[in-house]
Amino acid sequence: MALLPILCYPDPRLHKVARPVAAVQPRHRTLIADMLETMYDANGIGLAATQVDVHERLIVIDASEARDQPLVLINPEIVWLSPERQRQDEGCLSVPGIYDGVERAVAVRVQALDGDGRTRTIEAEGLLAVCVQHEMDHLLGKVFVEYLSPLKRNRIKTKMLKAARDARESAH
Ligand code: NI
Repeated sequence: MALLPILCYPDPRLHKVARPVAAVQPRHRTLIADMLETMYDANGIGLAATQVDVHERLIVIDASEARDQPLVLINPEIVWLSPERQRQDEGCLSVPGIYDGVERAVAVRVQALDGDGRTRTIEAEGLLAVCVQHEMDHLLGKVFVEYLSPLKRNRIKTKMLKAARDARESAH
């Protein structure tokens, strides 16, 4: 297993659209193990393959309190969204330190393959529903800050670019 580097907003690779996984192969199992390790190490509750620069429709999630319920969703498709919507603060491992409100469906039903390539349907509500929608957006090349106003988004972009520059300079 290995920790994978996470792309940081506004890296243009975060806006690539992921392609479907044709068949779950051994390299996907390695990717899943590495993504889970990376997510847990970063204290995240979800990670999309897009964020580690692999542009295939695969996400890992663990929204459990005890961090012991890893969920692997391959080729996820939303089959139902609740009409009720709610605004909640979100964060993202690709936009470290930024939290802001995004309105999303309160509950979702998603069909996906699991890590063994079996089809399963997941019903999610609350934090898990938010996480599923957030991670599925990544597969479409969408980062949560794109739901915010252009003013806020530009401020975040500037802050992220400055942080990256400072990190580069302190490395010399
Ligand atoms: Ni994210």
